[in-house]
Amino acid sequence: MPTANSAPPPAVSLSSCRAVWYPAAVAERIDGKAIAKRVRAEVAEQAAAFERQHGRAVSLHVVLVGDDPASHVYVRNKERAAAKAGIDGEVHRLDASTSQEEVEALVRRLNADAGVDGILVQLPLPEGLDARPIVELIDPKKDVDGLTTHNAGTVLGAGDGLYPCTPRGCMRLLRETGVDLRGKHALVIGRSQLVGRPMAIMLLASHATVTIAHRHTDPLEPLVRQADVLVVAVGRANLIPGDWIKPGAVVIDVGINRTVDGKLTGDVDFEGAQSRASAITPVPGGVGPMTIAMLLSNAVRAANLRADTP
Ligand code: GUN
Repeated sequence: MPTANSAPPPAVSLSSCRAVWYPAAVAERIDGKAIAKRVRAEVAEQAAAFERQHGRAVSLHVVLVGDDPASHVYVRNKERAAAKAGIDGEVHRLDASTSQEEVEALVRRLNADAGVDGILVQLPLPEGLDARPIVELIDPKKDVDGLTTHNAGTVLGAGDGLYPCTPRGCMRLLRETGVDLRGKHALVIGRSQLVGRPMAIMLLASHATVTIAHRHTDPLEPLVRQADVLVVAVGRANLIPGDWIKPGAVVIDVGINRTVDGKLTGDVDFEGAQSRASAITPVPGGVGPMTIAMLLSNAVRAANLRADTP
């Protein structure tokens, strides 16, 4: 009598032999919210240590001119996060009709005040105000945005300084993925003073081979296809289709765009990219939370820089 083991295999018709389907690997989701929380906790410890040592809290001052609703939301978030980390300070809310001279006078006063560690002028400024000379007035040691020419120079390697918050946040996210940047092809799309340019220099300092693309770069696709590390900071929803992503690439999406149905989305097609990348930041919850965390980190760094070299 045949047993189960000795039974002949069932006949299989050729038409039932289909290719085995393996689900595509899904990229690690880089959790900016969780990482930012950790950074804020580290900053709170550093702020407490500063206070113990110097008998006063780190102090961050924000200059907010006019009534741009988004700027008011951003500044409120910065204010709350600073307070939670034990950082003191003040938001100087000025009317949209404030003159260039009045804003500059305030910056000068904050520069001269020994109890002020960090100064941030929220951008954009209302029409009629010229941001560049106002930003340039900020004492580089208090320039927590890293926006002055002096600090742009320090990013380029000219000594110690304060680096822009968003690229610093992106670098921290990259570090958390464990990617070794040495010799990797890194593509930065966007060349703004605040993000793209400093980002490219920081990647270079970590020994990546860096390409910067911008609105005149054509074609963009082959550059994206060869990028092991992709940082996109353009502000155009789904600019980068998922199937352009090099398999295994690490993707940092700095874009925050609102779709017609009111949702937030990045510059990269997240769903498409997820099945090709090895790690990717979501929007929201990726780079965004890191910017504020790094601002707080810069405020403590500014306080320590001034304490070390009065
Ligand atoms: N407006 C939007 N983001 C920023 C920022 O990081 N710093 C400043 N100063 N203004 C901004």
